[in-house]
Amino acid sequence: MKIVTSKDEVRQQVREWRRQGLSVGLVPTMGFLHEGHQSLIERAAAENDRVVVSDFVNPTQFGAGEDLASYPRDIERDARLAQQAGAQLIFHPPAEEMYVPGASTFVDMQGDITAELCGRTRPTHFRGVCTIVAKLFNIAMPDRAYFGQKDAQQLAVIRKMVRELDFDLEIVACPIVREADGLAKSSRNTYLNAAERKAALVLSRAVELGSRLAAGGERDADKITAAMRALIEEEPLARIDYVKAVDADTIQPLSRLQGRSLVALAVYIGDTRLIDNFIFEE
Ligand code: PAF
Repeated sequence: MKIVTSKDEVRQQVREWRRQGLSVGLVPTMGFLHEGHQSLIERAAAENDRVVVSDFVNPTQFGAGEDLASYPRDIERDARLAQQAGAQLIFHPPAEEMYVPGASTFVDMQGDITAELCGRTRPTHFRGVCTIVAKLFNIAMPDRAYFGQKDAQQLAVIRKMVRELDFDLEIVACPIVREADGLAKSSRNTYLNAAERKAALVLSRAVELGSRLAAGGERDADKITAAMRALIEEEPLARIDYVKAVDADTIQPLSRLQGRSLVALAVYIGDTRLIDNFIFEE
């Protein structure tokens, strides 16, 4: 397994694989890998001949006052975990390799899809995500790229970008991976102290409650999200950013669950903002 830091090294390696007729899967990450990332890499390894993992804490998707500086990083550990999961190449560029000095070109998607949910609290986030993901697609030229369902809005945004900018690749969505007690795996879980870690279970409990109500026949989005909110509000360390039902593809708010509905939440536990969701489809 190779760790490379330049775009040219990735391109050369991928071109060589292509000459040999091999298919390539890309798993974009911000590093500090956990079992959620490993499940993406394993899936990519099962569906492609070679797997590239990008490991880059992307500054353009963090807003002012967010956790860019403190975001956990450990490339040696990441390399070990990526290899175990079946990757052949890790792309770990410095920021100045990814963004040439003075770079001022962005992929800036408009509409509810980026303005709703996380876009309300993080108005420049998806511009940063689209820009880096588009760049990674251009550098690694994968046949398939793998993203977690935990970032459901990100997934919808990336699918739309791929359609609208004619990227010639398949987006593969992978299920949320959870700790044994239900907490969705996230690199940001490492910020939680013991009391917060316990409090953070309120997210998966709210998801369980919401999906149970939907499975039991409730279709009124306000009733479902109100019940989820009430449960979260019982936890003193939790502060709700949003609990909302939207169309899973367009991220347009829904008053009733219909088609493929996404019920998503973002909750601060202490200073740490965590997300979780479920999809309901009839
Ligand atoms: O989901 C993430 O970790 C990031 O948003 C991504 C897709 C790697 C882009 O930096």
